[in-house]
Amino acid sequence: MTTPDPTLPPEDPDTSAAPLPGWPEQPDAVLLHAEDFSRSQEDLYRRLRRDHGPVVPVLLDGQIPVWMVLGYRELVRVTTDPNVFARDSRRWHSWHLVPPDWELMTFVGYRPTMLFTEGAEHERRAEAIIDSMEIVDAFELRALCERVADGLIDTFAGRGHADLIADYACQIPLRVLNRMYGMNEAESAELQQVTVDLVSGKGGPEAHQNMVDRMVALMEHARATPDRKNISTVLVNHPAGLTDEEIINDLLGNVYAAHQPTTDLIGNALRLMLTDERFAVTMSGGRRSVGQAINEVLWEATPVPNWVGRWAAEDTMLAGRHIRKGDCLMLGLAAANADPDVRPDFRSGAAGNQAHMAFSHGTHGCPPVARELAEAIAMAAIEVLIDRLPDVSLTAAPEDLEWRSKLMMRGVSAIPVQFTPTSR
Ligand code: HEM
Repeated sequence: MTTPDPTLPPEDPDTSAAPLPGWPEQPDAVLLHAEDFSRSQEDLYRRLRRDHGPVVPVLLDGQIPVWMVLGYRELVRVTTDPNVFARDSRRWHSWHLVPPDWELMTFVGYRPTMLFTEGAEHERRAEAIIDSMEIVDAFELRALCERVADGLIDTFAGRGHADLIADYACQIPLRVLNRMYGMNEAESAELQQVTVDLVSGKGGPEAHQNMVDRMVALMEHARATPDRKNISTVLVNHPAGLTDEEIINDLLGNVYAAHQPTTDLIGNALRLMLTDERFAVTMSGGRRSVGQAINEVLWEATPVPNWVGRWAAEDTMLAGRHIRKGDCLMLGLAAANADPDVRPDFRSGAAGNQAHMAFSHGTHGCPPVARELAEAIAMAAIEVLIDRLPDVSLTAAPEDLEWRSKLMMRGVSAIPVQFTPTSR
């Protein structure tokens, strides 16, 4: 099952550990700590693949047993076979091992959103969400993204310096999505701030309730103004006949799904463009390779490197491993992107290859309309920034840009820059 890789250093101590008590029936289970994901993830994946093959039993912090699917081919199998690899996390047999404050609870703990539905129920909910997001055409969307980006740059352009994460990237995705929901500019900016506070842990328990209240208000407003065309009016009038609870949960689900990954897509692409000399010409005025930088990030520094995941609905075999009913599988999206069988070489001109796993795959993969939205937002954000601040440059050394060390969401914490102050 293991293929030696002569270019790698000797075995990592964790990967050769004696059988671990957390998963006795998997003697080669690997103990993985959150910090392992803040170092070079590529080395970690290569080492795991070398020593354990494409599907690895791992114990996450707290001895939580999870299969990590590293192989591209294996990931395609898992994401395209929803009857065997199902989405409802209540199927997990190991919930008793999970502490209530587990860092992944927000994503993995069952909630009645579309994300955790299966089969016909998932089809019904997904169709409504997809139809609602298709309401905005590409030209309107581009104009909206440009307005949002321009408005934010106005707030710091005169200063001559900014943090492109706090002042810019993390402010954009929800200001766009909220307008698509039917909010006015002031409501949109407020909700954006509530979400940023909530995600960064500042909001407290009332922040979530505040978000729910805003979704309720949105739904009621959509019912009162059925002739308006926005995401909320499509959802309340959709033939899928969504209940109030379903509408509120799916509106909220989109807010959570969109905010951090799209922020990190913008941030990770800006980091690449500001630190890699291949993009120097683009940064000083050309726009040509913004799409290329975004695509490269989706392969090599993807905002969602791992996703938990899937739960086996029956016993099955995967890459020679016996997966038991109720086992949890973590989708190693970044690891699959780095699979030597598929990985393109961008330094020798593989710019157009979009077969990455950044958005996952299959029926539960990020919906195509949401992927297009994320990429359109990122593209406009970077292009408008380059147009408005053509001499923007980093004020920190590239190696001092810090990665947030999250297992499931990965982005740089801050991008301090300077530029010639301008006024509109
Ligand atoms: C760069 C930005 C984004 C990335 C990397 C990303 C990635 C992902 C991933 C990995 C999943 C899980 C797929 C699975 O379980 O197989 C997902 C699901 C989802 N995403 Fe995204 N996403 C992004 C942006 C967005 C945006 C902007 C929206 C909506 C406004 C969105 C809406 C959703 C929804 C609704 C799902 C659940 C799909 C389902 O279970 O059927 N995502 N996304």
